[in-house]
Formats: sequence, C-alpha cells, structure tokens
Amino acid sequence: MSKLAVVTGASSGIGQAYAERLAREGYDLVIVARRRERLDALAKRLRDEARVTVEPLTADLTDDRDLARVEARVAGERALELLVNNAGFGAYMPFEKLPPERADDLVRVHVLAPTRLSRAAVPGMVERKKGAIVNVASMLAFSASLPPEPLPNRVVYAAAKAYLVAFSQALAAELAQSGVRVQALCPGIVATEFHVAQGASGPLPGAMDPAEVVQASLAGLQSGEVVCAPTVEDAEKLRSVAESGRAFFAGRPSGALASRYRR
Ligand SMILES: NC(=O)c1ccc[n+]([C@@H]2O[C@H](COP(=O)([O-])OP(=O)(O)OC[C@H]3O[C@@H](n4cnc5c(N)ncnc54)[C@H](OP(=O)(O)O)[C@@H]3O)[C@@H](O)[C@H]2O)c1
Repeated sequence: MSKLAVVTGASSGIGQAYAERLAREGYDLVIVARRRERLDALAKRLRDEARVTVEPLTADLTDDRDLARVEARVAGERALELLVNNAGFGAYMPFEKLPPERADDLVRVHVLAPTRLSRAAVPGMVERKKGAIVNVASMLAFSASLPPEPLPNRVVYAAAKAYLVAFSQALAAELAQSGVRVQALCPGIVATEFHVAQGASGPLPGAMDPAEVVQASLAGLQSGEVVCAPTVEDAEKLRSVAESGRAFFAGRPSGALASRYRR
C-alpha cells in the first residue's frame, strides 16, 4: 500500500526539502502553502523525478476556512504516515511594534495550525498503530531567558516555538505505546527565504542546508528522539535542556508555600 506525507510550507526552504527527500523515499505527497505556482512547479518536478503522486493544496493557514480544508484532508487520508507541520515566518521586531494582527498570524501559523492538524492526524494514526508527526520548532524555543541582542527580537515567535516543543513532548509521552511518533524539530539558522523575508540581502554566514535539517529530522525519528536539534553535537546536553522541567516534579508533590515567599 502507498504511504502518504502531508507537508505544510512546502513552497520553499525546509518544507520543500522535506518534499524532495520524502518523494525520493517513495512517499506520495500533499504539499500545502499559499503560492500555487510554486507548489505546481514542485509537484511536477517531483512527479517526473520520483514517480510519486504529488497534490498541491493551496491554503493560507492563518485563515480559518483554509485551515479547516487542510484539517479535513489530513483527517480523511487513510494512508497518512507522516505529517510535517513546517509552515512559518519570523516577524522579528520589538513586541510593542509588532502589529496585533501579525501577532495573531504568528500564533495561528505556529500554534493553532499544528495543533489542529495534529488533532486531525492522530486518531487515524493511532488506529493504524503507525505514523509520525514532525512539528518544526526552532532553537529559539529555548531562548526565552536570553536578552534580545544579539538574537532577534522574537517574543511571540520564540513563545510559539516553545509551545511546539512542549506540545510535541507531551503528545509523544501520551502516544508512547501507540506506535505513533512525535518530534519537535529545532533547527538553528537555516539557509532559506525565511531570512530574506526578514530583510537579509543574501545567505547568512554559517546557515545550514535545509536538506541537512531534513536528514537530521528523519534520522532522529528513527532513533526515537522527541526533541531533535540538528546542530547540537552533544546529545546529552540536548536531553538535559529539553527535560529540565522534570526537576520540579521530582519527589512528593507539595501544596506548601515556598519559604522565600513567606514574610
Ligand atoms: N530558516 C531558519 O533559520 C529557521 C530556523 C529555525 C526554524 N525555522 C522554521 O522552519 C520553518 C520553515 O521555514 P523556512 O526557513 O523553510 O522558511 P521559508 O523558506 O520562508 O518557508 C516558509 C514556508 O511556510 C509557508 N507559509 C508561511 N506562511 C504561511 C501561511 N500563512 N499559510 C501557509 N503557508 C505559509 C511558505 O509558503 P507560502 O509563502 O507560499 O505560503 C513557505 O513554504 C518555519 O516554521 C520556521 O519558523 C526556520
């Protein structure tokens, strides 16, 4: 039986690299983004190169009706083996300058859409006892306590990506015995149009190739890594940062007020 992957944000960058790699691995694809002509060109190329079925699905994931269409598609796909929630953008700027509607869009694309599409995918995957969901987060998910410089101004973006890490970890734990895997992918700087949209004039120094990000993600899925960080060499450090919250849950739960808050 054929296997199918749905990739959001496949019209460029990391999403396009997923589509290219998954097509080579024999996945049929549904590719989602707003730019129809980009999706059509990619679909044609991948059909010719890899002899798989590729269906473009034009959707703006900030739009409720478009999201509902993609959701219905994901829920109805019997062969769905992989959902990649990758679509995204940065809108880096000081919080007080971020237009409120842009803040909404950040939450819709990075939080609401992955949540709803995962919710649409999980029942079928659990029933079939196989499948995987990749939520493309970022190393910036772990950056909240760092000052704005030299990292970008990123309040809503970093918080949305932190949501994706927590969402993926909690869902992976809930589905641990189901045969369904969940990953939060946390790239560093990747050479994509993401930075052009932020005003970069050319390639950023030290940026990773999107194909390598995908390579790390798929290898991490194989090895069962829930938080996958392609540029972090020390896997132990990655685990300890990703699981740091556990320290609060060690020992017996207590409702007593901590002594430093007593007067
Ligand atoms: N590049 C980096 O350094 C970096 C680092 C860490 C994490 N990430 C994350 O990686 C993911 C992919 O980004 P990228 O670097 O590959 O950037 P990119 O080349 O700009 O690609 C972003 C993709 O998201 C799609 N998209 C954006 N807004 C959308 C919307 N409202 N509805 C539907 N699709 C939408 C775009 O397609 P259309 O414009 O055609 O809709 C495009 O296909 C993002 O979630 C980003 O936050 C990137």
